[in-house]
Amino acid sequence: MKDIVVTGGNAGIGFETVRELAGRGHRVIFTSRNTEKGQTALDRIRNEYPEAEVSVVQVDLTDFESIRQACSEILKMSPRIDVLIHNAGTFQSIRRENEAGIELSLMVNHVAPFYMTHLLLPALTQSPDGRIICVNSDSHFMGSFDPENINLNRRYQGLRAYCRTKLANVYFTYEFDRRNPYPHLKIFAVHPGLVNTDIGAKDATFLHRLVWNWRSRSGKTPREGAETSIYLATAEGNELESGKYWDNCRVKKSSKLSYNEQNAAFLWEKTAGLCGLEGKEFFQEAGRNP
Ligand SMILES: NC(=O)c1ccc[n+]([C@@H]2O[C@H](COP(=O)([O-])OP(=O)(O)OC[C@H]3O[C@@H](n4cnc5c(N)ncnc54)[C@H](OP(=O)(O)O)[C@@H]3O)[C@@H](O)[C@H]2O)c1
Repeated sequence: MKDIVVTGGNAGIGFETVRELAGRGHRVIFTSRNTEKGQTALDRIRNEYPEAEVSVVQVDLTDFESIRQACSEILKMSPRIDVLIHNAGTFQSIRRENEAGIELSLMVNHVAPFYMTHLLLPALTQSPDGRIICVNSDSHFMGSFDPENINLNRRYQGLRAYCRTKLANVYFTYEFDRRNPYPHLKIFAVHPGLVNTDIGAKDATFLHRLVWNWRSRSGKTPREGAETSIYLATAEGNELESGKYWDNCRVKKSSKLSYNEQNAAFLWEKTAGLCGLEGKEFFQEAGRNP
């Protein structure tokens, strides 16, 4: 039985990931932006699996204070975390910023996983077989990297922004793996496939919603989309090589650009700055003051 944390577990791929892992007897904490939606998801799982050890924590991943509070709550509930699944994600047709001035898709898809990982490291390092799973996307193949435009200030276009945030998240996965001093802690990036969820219809213009609804209809079911995350969370640890990109439960190559170590190191420092961690050691001071 593992202690597992899943972000964005109230809907789509995240919900199916939580349902399956809780159904298999793992202790799962999932996050939900909306308390009501979180409770509904919890009730559904408990109805199906009355014995399930599953709970929900509210978090808005666009808000640093909310992230700190949620992580503090999670650390109290689970002093050891075996698996952290960064599943929550967003597509934003129109450019919007949080209070700190960070574009929302960059914040939710890249900055929040970076910060949460830092804050939850004290629990992840308690596990003899810790794993971090970043739900990514083949969209990153279309992502470009501009060190002068990390915050997507210029020439914003929703799909271009989404692709860049997913490339940023692959950089995070690889850079984490290079810097990680803990041999028992692994990190993976996952492409779930094209999956029929609402992600492209929530914060979307009418046209984007129309295109997404048409396109996603041919996609996998959310349960199928959850398969690789579930595999990486539960498979024997010694079979799994850290710092790789996974699709259909197999390692595959990510984009050529994603292997650029200079970009990854630059982005790491920049993101640490956005999280107020500049000058701090991401690993040594992990989460001391969440
Ligand atoms: N669907 C696909 O074809 C596809 C393909 C490749 C990769 N992915 C990736 O798969 C992951 C799951 O996406 P999905 O398709 O299952 O989408 P989804 O059904 O929209 O689920 C996304 C989850 O993230 C949560 N979330 C979004 N913004 C948040 C915020 N500000 N604070 C807290 N939680 C937030 C959502 O909460 P709400 O329910 O409140 O919105 C939801 O729980 C994402 O990382 C996505 O990029 C999806």
